[in-house]
Amino acid sequence: MTDDYQQKLAAEAELWGAESERVARELPPDWRYHRHLRHNVIMHAADIDDLLRQVRPGMHALELGCASGWLTLALAQQGAHAVGLDISDKSLAVARAYYDQVRASVAGTVEYRVADLNALDLPAAAYDLIAVKATLHHLVNLDHTIDQIYHALKPGGLLWASDSRGDEHLSSVLVAGALTFVLPTETSYADKFRALRKFGLRAPSRVKASIQADGLSPFEGAGREHDWLKLIEQRFTIERRVNMPAVTGYVTAQLKAPEAVALPFLKALRAVDRLLVRAGLLRNTGLVIYARKPL
Ligand SMILES: C[S@@+](CC[C@H](N)C(=O)[O-])C[C@H]1O[C@@H](n2cnc3c(N)ncnc32)[C@H](O)[C@@H]1O
Repeated sequence: MTDDYQQKLAAEAELWGAESERVARELPPDWRYHRHLRHNVIMHAADIDDLLRQVRPGMHALELGCASGWLTLALAQQGAHAVGLDISDKSLAVARAYYDQVRASVAGTVEYRVADLNALDLPAAAYDLIAVKATLHHLVNLDHTIDQIYHALKPGGLLWASDSRGDEHLSSVLVAGALTFVLPTETSYADKFRALRKFGLRAPSRVKASIQADGLSPFEGAGREHDWLKLIEQRFTIERRVNMPAVTGYVTAQLKAPEAVALPFLKALRAVDRLLVRAGLLRNTGLVIYARKPL
């Protein structure tokens, strides 16, 4: 890997390390707390809880891109021997510090290790379950990573992947842009009108960049050039595919309203969003995939 890559990777590690530290100051990195956060209630709780129901005591589980470790820990709280890998030392320090506090109450075991997911060297047939959330789209060597996942899973093992796939579609960008224009957000209405006048026809591409968090990290969207689903389909049997709503995630992150108002509104939006995705009127990029390594 080149010097440029190593520099970007160090910046990636720094960014997510700072994020893990910031979030941990507000809430312990523990799914039992995080599942009540608005974004998780609306977007992820059902899928994460479903993943956790797949865990049997004594299973060997691996999480790729574990950050502050909340999902690796949750797998262990279900009784798994869980390993979490991430490039960020700082995130892993947050994860280890919290695990040290709660380990007596954890049914399984946890180990956190630094690793570059673009250059993995995993043991063969070692894991029953591998989980990777919101991380594949940051990877530049996805073919290798998916190969390594396949190699490291036991025959019959499960890969659970949750991520966005490809670019946001214009329909979603326009609907998400319109909703966040009309609804109260951190940006004042005066600033919204000013931005609309300033950007005019370029406004949708600004909204798209905001939805995709372009520029947030050095590798944000790097993996969008590869179709991770196609790579998984080539090797695994897809057991289940959950289509995430198309615009609800972005609106959930932007909406400024008391939870008592926001939650029922966002749940209704999610239901309508899902119907529109099913009808083909909106196109989602977020997916959760359950992929089985053949026996
Ligand atoms: C968007 S965060 C997702 C974190 C966590 N999975 C979650 O959903 O809360 C992406 C994570 O991937 C890690 N990451 C990005 N590129 C990586 C790489 N090449 N090797 C290892 N970890 C990487 C980052 O440090 C960060 O913790």
